[in-house]
Amino acid sequence: MSEWKNYIQQAYHLEPSHEGKTGVVGWTSPSNIALVKYWGKKPVQLPINPSLSMSLSQAVTETTVHWDAVGAENSGVTVHFNGQPAPAFRPKVVAFINRITQSMPFLGSLQLQIDTHNSFPHSAGIASSASAMSALALCFLQIEMQLFRLQYTRKEFLQKASYLARLGSGSAARSVYPGFVLWGETPEVEISTDQWAVPVDAIHPLFQDLRDSILITSSQPKKISSTQGHETMNDHPFRQNRVAQAMQNINILRTALKAGDWETFAAVTEEEALGLHGLMLSARQGFSLLNDHSLAIIDELRAFRKQQQVPLTFTLDAGPNVHVLYPADYETRVHAFLHDELSGYLENGQMIHDFAGQGPEMLTQYGNHGEK
Ligand code: DP6
Repeated sequence: MSEWKNYIQQAYHLEPSHEGKTGVVGWTSPSNIALVKYWGKKPVQLPINPSLSMSLSQAVTETTVHWDAVGAENSGVTVHFNGQPAPAFRPKVVAFINRITQSMPFLGSLQLQIDTHNSFPHSAGIASSASAMSALALCFLQIEMQLFRLQYTRKEFLQKASYLARLGSGSAARSVYPGFVLWGETPEVEISTDQWAVPVDAIHPLFQDLRDSILITSSQPKKISSTQGHETMNDHPFRQNRVAQAMQNINILRTALKAGDWETFAAVTEEEALGLHGLMLSARQGFSLLNDHSLAIIDELRAFRKQQQVPLTFTLDAGPNVHVLYPADYETRVHAFLHDELSGYLENGQMIHDFAGQGPEMLTQYGNHGEK
């Protein structure tokens, strides 16, 4: 396990000399799709097994934070989502700030005005907590740099952002990096840790611009939240085997991603997707988040792959929407098939065509953090 770094542990407090300073920061951060799934956690928001994801490109959250160093008595948080006050999202933001207060005690002395927008419909079943919490973590870290005149290297900055984002939502730890990302201690990867995610390098060109078409079979809120789902792993009868399986799949997938081995990539991805839903069904209070259309789509995809010899695979998160993954060269053929043959299974024919992304981007940075 990597050692704790000073720049992550160092906590900054607001001093009287900071009062009156203001600034604006903004970041856009992507959602990600897990290939090896994070499912089950231990306190505080640490995974029971390592996971490996791909950061997306089109499904992003854009967050802007205006901050005012007003002192603890006058501090507060307002939150807007897509231009409207966000009574449902605000408590999540406040819980996140409280959770990172040890790392960032200065946040409790600021007036924060948070404006956040998602590029994808809220109901699309795309994990919005990953993009939302990573965008917020990046903004808070940028405020820390402005206020305390800090300079981090890119690596330090992203590592600390990943650590903070993890405390907002586990999967958010992975969204701060482009491409393929590993979160969780993996004996074969020396730099890996449960505390923050790390990028996976040396990816074969076949996977570098992988496509992900998200087929929306239902936009209804999930009957079991991810948080409740993770809890079912606490006493799951297959817990031990699941952890061993994930460790093994991480290694197999890393090798396949480097070698450009599509068959192995597809086999592991599908085992993980269906295995996740199998874990839900076989939990002590078993449940399912799949619907008839998710299952029908999986059959159709497998039949198309076999008949047409198109390299295509799929995954699912904790919900009924199917992510179809394929190399960029096959885009035209796969799009035609999805639109012609699978639209009927989708809610209002909804599908979102996404692809491997470049990671977060800074939008705004302004502050009167010079002399008052
Ligand atoms: C099935 O990251 O949403 O998408 O840490 O409670 O916020 P919290 O959970 P979350 O769980 C994601 C679960 C998953 C698999 C994955 O993304 O690895």
